[in-house]
Amino acid sequence: MDMPIQKKGLFATKSIADYQEEAAGRHLVRALGIPALIAFGIGGIIGTGIFVLTGLAAAQHAGPAIVISFIIAGTGCMFAGLCYSEFAAMVPVCGSAYAYSYATLGEIVAWFVGWNLVLEYMMACSTVAVGWSRYFVAFLELFHVHLPAALTSAPFAAGETGNEIFRTGAIFNLPAVLIVAAAAALCYKGIKESAIVNTIIVLIKVSIVVAVIIFGAFFVNTANWFPYIPPNTGTFGQFGWSGIWQASAIIFFAYIGFDGVSTVAQEAKDPARGMPIGMLGSLGICTLLYILMSSVMTGLAPFHDLNDAAPVVAALKPHPQLSWLKTWVIIGALAGLTSVIITMIIPQARIWLTMSRDGLMPKFFGKVHPRFRTPHISTAITGVLAATFAGLLPIGILGELVSIGTLVAFIVVCIGVVVLRYTRPDLVRPFRVKAVWLIAGGGVAFCGMMAYSLPNATWWRLLIWSLIGFALYFFYGHKHSRLRAGRPPDPSDG
Ligand code: ALA
Repeated sequence: MDMPIQKKGLFATKSIADYQEEAAGRHLVRALGIPALIAFGIGGIIGTGIFVLTGLAAAQHAGPAIVISFIIAGTGCMFAGLCYSEFAAMVPVCGSAYAYSYATLGEIVAWFVGWNLVLEYMMACSTVAVGWSRYFVAFLELFHVHLPAALTSAPFAAGETGNEIFRTGAIFNLPAVLIVAAAAALCYKGIKESAIVNTIIVLIKVSIVVAVIIFGAFFVNTANWFPYIPPNTGTFGQFGWSGIWQASAIIFFAYIGFDGVSTVAQEAKDPARGMPIGMLGSLGICTLLYILMSSVMTGLAPFHDLNDAAPVVAALKPHPQLSWLKTWVIIGALAGLTSVIITMIIPQARIWLTMSRDGLMPKFFGKVHPRFRTPHISTAITGVLAATFAGLLPIGILGELVSIGTLVAFIVVCIGVVVLRYTRPDLVRPFRVKAVWLIAGGGVAFCGMMAYSLPNATWWRLLIWSLIGFALYFFYGHKHSRLRAGRPPDPSDG
């Protein structure tokens, strides 16, 4: 321990030395090289954002300037990604933003961030599984196979405002449950197996995105790009610059996932190099693809026509010569969403593992399978909970909650990196952010502005979510914290 800890109460910070010792532990298996880490990042990034949300954001908020929204959201993520990289290379533990907050801002902040990461990973997994189910139904329909409606949607749905819940008559969303179960089984089995499957899926989805960009580019009608920034209608968020910001807050979801790379730091062969390259590399590649893809989509069809749950298909519609691409887009979306589900389960299980070793979560969350070397119990719990939410609950309204939870984590990481520069300037930083005040400040400003642009209802839901989280902390974590009790983290290895 770096200093007496018992007296530091709710803001007790865990020593970096403890984390570095944990990172050197042999609990998990170091199987991931740089290509697998970049594929892990891309696996988590390209999914619902581009295949589902782009249309709504362009049609209702930004028009062709959705491209600027992608640049804004990508810039905020790049700032946060740089800060994540400094931490992940220096403290390569699987707790990610939760662990970085514990080392810099104190236990209760770390809990708050860990609780928000549940939104980012587990809830995003459920949200994406529901999107996957829709694309799966569309895929089967290509072959004239029709699943009964009662088995392809949740028994409950939310009303327009999201405040009232009603019954739909359906039983449960079977495809959503099955895809989460299959992905969780893979993650349970091994990190190497998961990485191989993920890399294959990533190659498929990126090839399809590139195909849409290249073939679509020949059919772009530049008239569709004018006016590039449609004038504001008089309502905040409906076109004009406020619309561009609101669209960036919506499509921020498209970037979520690159930070998941930091949760496999203990499974990376060379985390000091692999973490920055994995996170920033995947983010850079996807930002470029998003800019090109959204330019092509808004050039193929008038932006109003993209207001569709499958906007890429809607963009291809006016061009019969491109109709062959439709099937590929559905396959690309299915592949994309599958890899997002895999790369959301893995981080969630590892964050719970770290929290459990710190005593903030029950001990069984920290168990590692003796043969597979995966946090198998956390993985199974993540799978069961995510499948249940996806199968039964109206999770449409969760998408924005996922985004705000992630933005909170990004902001805390940006603040944390500056704090640690002052509290521990002596630490060896294999990756050091240049102009840290500018980059971290930029991250806080961009992510803060996107969070501010989300609807008020989302802020209220975050407040309720946070209150539940703090109640759980005082009920369990506060009493069992190993740090505050002056005990070292639980070194158990299975
Ligand atoms: N970025 C992921 C997606 O768009 C979460 O589905």
